[in-house]
Amino acid sequence: MKRLNYLLIALLFTLPTSLFANEGMWFLMHIERLNHRDMQKMGLQLTPEEIYSINNQSLKDAIVQFGGGCTASIISSNGLVLTNHHCGYNVIAELSTAEQNHLKNGFWAQSLDQELKPQSLSVRFFVRMDDVSERILSKVNDAMTEKEREAAINKEIAKIQGENNGGGKYTVSVRSFYQGNEYYYFVYEDYTDVRLVGTPPESIGKYGGDTDNWEWPRHTGDFSLFRVYGDANGQPAQYSPSNVPLKAKYHLPVNINGVKENDFAMILGYPGRTNRWMPAEGIEQNVKYAYPAWVEGSKLSMDVMKKYMDEDESVNLMYASQYAGIANYWKNRQGMIDALTKHGTAATKRKIEEKFNKWANKSKNKATYGDVISTINNYYSLTNEKAQHDNYLLALLRSSMFAVLPYRIGSGLENYVSSNEAKRKELGPRLSAFINNAYTDYHLPLEKEILAEQLKLYSSKSNYELPELINEIASKEDINAYVEAMFNLSMFSSKERVAAFLDYPDADLLANDPLYKLSSALLTKYREEPEALQQPLNDYQRSFRLLVKGLRASEISRIEYPDANSTLRLSYGKVRALPKDARNDAAINNYTTFKGVINKYKPNDHEFDLPKDMLEFFEKKDYGRYANEKGQLSVNFLTDNDITGGNSGSPVLNGKGELIGLAFDGNIEAMAGDVIFDKDLQRTINVDIRYVLWLIDNYSDARNIVDELTIVAE
Ligand code: ARG
Repeated sequence: MKRLNYLLIALLFTLPTSLFANEGMWFLMHIERLNHRDMQKMGLQLTPEEIYSINNQSLKDAIVQFGGGCTASIISSNGLVLTNHHCGYNVIAELSTAEQNHLKNGFWAQSLDQELKPQSLSVRFFVRMDDVSERILSKVNDAMTEKEREAAINKEIAKIQGENNGGGKYTVSVRSFYQGNEYYYFVYEDYTDVRLVGTPPESIGKYGGDTDNWEWPRHTGDFSLFRVYGDANGQPAQYSPSNVPLKAKYHLPVNINGVKENDFAMILGYPGRTNRWMPAEGIEQNVKYAYPAWVEGSKLSMDVMKKYMDEDESVNLMYASQYAGIANYWKNRQGMIDALTKHGTAATKRKIEEKFNKWANKSKNKATYGDVISTINNYYSLTNEKAQHDNYLLALLRSSMFAVLPYRIGSGLENYVSSNEAKRKELGPRLSAFINNAYTDYHLPLEKEILAEQLKLYSSKSNYELPELINEIASKEDINAYVEAMFNLSMFSSKERVAAFLDYPDADLLANDPLYKLSSALLTKYREEPEALQQPLNDYQRSFRLLVKGLRASEISRIEYPDANSTLRLSYGKVRALPKDARNDAAINNYTTFKGVINKYKPNDHEFDLPKDMLEFFEKKDYGRYANEKGQLSVNFLTDNDITGGNSGSPVLNGKGELIGLAFDGNIEAMAGDVIFDKDLQRTINVDIRYVLWLIDNYSDARNIVDELTIVAE
């Protein structure tokens, strides 16, 4: 009997974690308490201290946030950085010209002095984190409005930042979790001299293009290499030719023994955003109002951009990265609409909310939680049309340079015009540098057409009060001609004309400039906080926080990890196949092969073309130590880790913390995953590290890179 009780208790305690083994984006400081036993059972051989230690070197020292939106890892003692090709994409394009086209042909520095410095690129090391929930929440009370609450919290945040920034050496970020129910701070060290070391040609690094993006089976060599530089003391420093490669505190060993089904796999990185607590009506709003507008607006811009990009390689290089970014989320949002609809996610959430409501209306909870759900639902019903409007407007602002730039420069010019001579002397050079930077890499005919087409879509499709100026433009017979005329009249249509304004400032000229007026109207609209929504918004924020608090307190929800918000997380799971798929030639549908790459090859197709020598390499089948046990070259593989955008470039590690792959995508069937995790469907798509090494070593002959690595074979 006693035994049975123990068993039962043990079972009760292990149930939640083993039930959801692959779900969760965990804080490193919680691994010991929440995950370590489970991870060990699955194959982890490291101690929590070897993963995250404040005082000793640990895994976390080899993980960086890359360029603000991706993840990367340090893979040599000389600061070599491995990330995805799609994460390095914008700087690879920036460093390319039609004549020296690294994006198209690939690039390998054979020595340090050949490494290329882009205008701006940084990596962020994670130093430490801690829980400051009690400290922050002690500063607020229930009588406060949301605005008052925010002000009190921000005051305390500023103090915490001051106390932990090491005298200016570190960046300290305090973030809210569980919808404002918990707070943690994060200490970072940023390095801003980061240089391109190597990349395969785009036809390998982005093989399959947007057709294959978000899909499995996949055959992409999605990696690129960079290096962190610091000053002679290893401290962060502005670019200087005298900077030296960073002596890394810790770097990842690379394991080339390969992976098989059920092997333990963990991923450390910076997932961007999940909304696992999102209420049912929020999901409905996205599916019916927000995302369809996003999808439609994105597609419109993509079509215009593509037309000009295909005509001219230099235009292609200017817009390739922006295009890829828009296309990526265009497909993602359509995938979300489809998955959320197919899985009936809103209905599932509604059931949870019904349960919550029963609990909330018990007499002891009623005063606090009784109206939470109705308040939330009310807010969504008030904002559906606005959500649609905002997404059309955002599509316009995201893709049109001349919708945004005139306002940004113009507000500086307003200040300049109203300043005295002395102040102008000071502002002038700064404005002129800003203008110089802003007017690079754009193609005027493309910009005119995007702006005209986006204005048509925005003004015709959003059922929400539009700025007066937009209604006026919409009433014109020929909007393209009208936009053309605005460009002709405006000083913002060329660098030279805005620059001339600095010599001959004139307040009226600025106030009447048509592109400045348009841009101001659009951005003012974007920032508008409608009076009628102030109270509902306040009540919604408060109720959403209480919903999450109540779902946790009542144990109706068992989610024990916070939503992603671009802070460092660990996810663990295993190598895991999807059901057999005729499109994959591999023996098990958890990896793909070089043969599969060749099978997809379509000469001259912009997504499935390959460099000719890849075919010759395939004929030779010379994979050396990178071959799998069948003598093939493995290209990509699947794990069931819980990741999302921002994890791109994250290292995939085995139980010993050795690098086995590089995460680069998710699968479209699991696209509802950001609001509801599906433990059966969710997959992470990874580049096999052996494909990466084969491409560096054999295909590109970059032996200098291979020599830097710590390779584990056996
Ligand atoms: N889906 C990938 C991610 O969000 C990006 C892939 C980029 N490739 C592309 N074809 N647009 O991380």
